[in-house]
Amino acid sequence: MAYYSQTTGFYKGNDPKELLAKFGSPLYVYSEEILRQKARDMKNLADLPNFQSNYSVKANSNVSLLRIIHEEGLYADAMSPGEILALEAAGFEHEKIFYVANNVSSEEMKFALDRGIIVSVDSLDQLDQFGRIADGLEVAIRFNPGVGAGHSEKVVTGGKKTKFGVSMDDIDKVKEILARNKTTLIGINQHIGSLYMEKDPFIAAVKNLLEIAKSFKGLKIIDFGGGFGIPYKKQSGQEPLDIASLKDEFTEVLKAWMAETGETPLFKIEPGRYVVAESSILLGTVHAVKDNAGTTYVGTDLGFNVLARPMMYDSHHDIEVYPNDGRALGEVFEQTVVGNICESGDIMAKGRLLPEIKTGDTLGVMDAGAYGFSMSSNYNNRLKPAEVLIKADGSVKLIRKMDNYESLLINMLNL
Ligand code: LLP
Repeated sequence: MAYYSQTTGFYKGNDPKELLAKFGSPLYVYSEEILRQKARDMKNLADLPNFQSNYSVKANSNVSLLRIIHEEGLYADAMSPGEILALEAAGFEHEKIFYVANNVSSEEMKFALDRGIIVSVDSLDQLDQFGRIADGLEVAIRFNPGVGAGHSEKVVTGGKKTKFGVSMDDIDKVKEILARNKTTLIGINQHIGSLYMEKDPFIAAVKNLLEIAKSFKGLKIIDFGGGFGIPYKKQSGQEPLDIASLKDEFTEVLKAWMAETGETPLFKIEPGRYVVAESSILLGTVHAVKDNAGTTYVGTDLGFNVLARPMMYDSHHDIEVYPNDGRALGEVFEQTVVGNICESGDIMAKGRLLPEIKTGDTLGVMDAGAYGFSMSSNYNNRLKPAEVLIKADGSVKLIRKMDNYESLLINMLNL
């Protein structure tokens, strides 16, 4: 079986071990080519002039990556002032940013408003708070389309069991609040959850939101959210989401709705994971191998401080083994890859079939670009890793320095 990094030419001739020697271990490595390709897939997801894809910054907010995504013509949605600032640093114009906030203060709403960024509110209460900031404001509302999907209950955001969105049953109340505060509704949006590999839940939610849209004439924006999955189990032959057939059906549904209603709003999606996940491999170093009661533990510097997804959601990330001594990879057997954090749940891959791994080897954790660095932490006072970008010509660019011990302590000293 050829590794993903080989079939894609991910490293473009760079040696993972040398990258670690130069930039430190662990290290997030990104491929410019893969990032651009995935951004294009999403930009073209509907065959309509009034379609636009956002990129959902929460998946990865590295400014250099945001610049590339901006160059590819995507807009963006942000969840916090910090994400707005990252987008500004990357050159995103304010009219290209959508603020999809959840339970935020009026100050945060104003932070976006002052910049001319459209704000989406997530409850009747927040709609009212927003409208009271001033008369005559424009707003978007996040509806809960009643359909949810996702790889874990923790990331399903549509349906009855979640904190998100305004219920379709509250449309009359929405209208009353809008009228009372002289607020104009210009957009509606939704997000059903993260990581679906079939188009059906998405299409069902699209249809539901389009039904809701009929209650509000003249909307400028209808945004169907993100959640498009990527195949995390490529080594076992998992197929990608069928983008071509999703595109056909999505486009048909939108065209039929426009024909029926005579309206042509800007249709949007807001994918995060799909754009960035496959563009990154997280590299780490093996520091110890041991056998405990019949389990082989491969001890690395890849703790859940660096990549939280396996610990948090039991997520699977394929692992590639790069031997330190140039030996050929042997037969696979069950090994458990763990990190260096003081919790027994600090497991990157449990009972995984991998070729023999030795101390000093380098491991590559696949598909680490989404919710990898952005969910990393300084737990155990560990330093967050550096990030590097392999450009189309194979050159390597540092796009984030590794933390240093000063940055760990600075907010606690000299008070
Ligand atoms: N729009 C909204 C309003 C969202 O809440 C999210 C993700 C997205 C768009 C982008 O979803 P995506 O296309 O990336 O699935 N940390 C989890 C995923 C959490 C997703 C949160 N919301 C993970 O690592 O799987």
